[in-house]
Amino acid sequence: MANYRIAPSILSANFAKLGDEITAVIASGADFIHFDVMDNHYVPNLTIGPLVCEAIRPVTDAIIDVHLMVEPVDRIVPDFAKAGANIISFHPEATRHIDRTIGLIKEQGCKAGLVFNPATPLDYLDHVLDKLDLVLIMSVNPGFGGQQFIPEALRKLAAVRKRIDDSGRDILLEIDGGVKVDNIAKIARAGADTFVAGSAIYGAGKDSDPHRYDSVLAAFRAELAKV
Ligand code: DX5
Ligand code: ZN
Repeated sequence: MANYRIAPSILSANFAKLGDEITAVIASGADFIHFDVMDNHYVPNLTIGPLVCEAIRPVTDAIIDVHLMVEPVDRIVPDFAKAGANIISFHPEATRHIDRTIGLIKEQGCKAGLVFNPATPLDYLDHVLDKLDLVLIMSVNPGFGGQQFIPEALRKLAAVRKRIDDSGRDILLEIDGGVKVDNIAKIARAGADTFVAGSAIYGAGKDSDPHRYDSVLAAFRAELAKV
């Protein structure tokens, strides 16, 4: 079985007990903490920033996978690096100089990812794939949790899978939006190896149960084992 990673999006967690929500998903076998940053400018919603990243850093050794949905990008990158982010991904439409932003993220000691909205062409990869550590395909329009998976993302995943394999480089291929137990296997078959899931995971448990995410994480793993 391929090395699959599950990245719960804390966007759908209970923010009143965020540290506990992170400990619980990692204890249930999640790999990354997906950290959605929205600015009410690039996307029509407002979420969390570097202060919250800094606050959760001591709670877990897991990789913090920061998904920036902000414009501009560069000003905020060093703040997230200092706050303990491991991976920082951004949308090409949100920065003037894509190559420079990738360089900045790496200079700050983080891994760099590029994010493709449903209607963003993959052409950017012609020029920067060799510098990326992660490609993130959006299977919803960014801004909100709990939206429906857009099936066109499967074709896009397959196209990126081929580009990554042809490159021979170790690049994660992440999918974000509408990932559920009943579609994760199909998404993995299309080529994804890293799966963001917000509402499917954080909507699944009762706050008081320390093992509240065991069954949903096990269900994801069981589906992935069939691939
Ligand atoms: C959407 C965010 C996602 C979102 C996924 O803009 O990037 O990470 O939280 O949520 P679900 O899994 O509920 O679609
Ligand atoms: Zn995200």
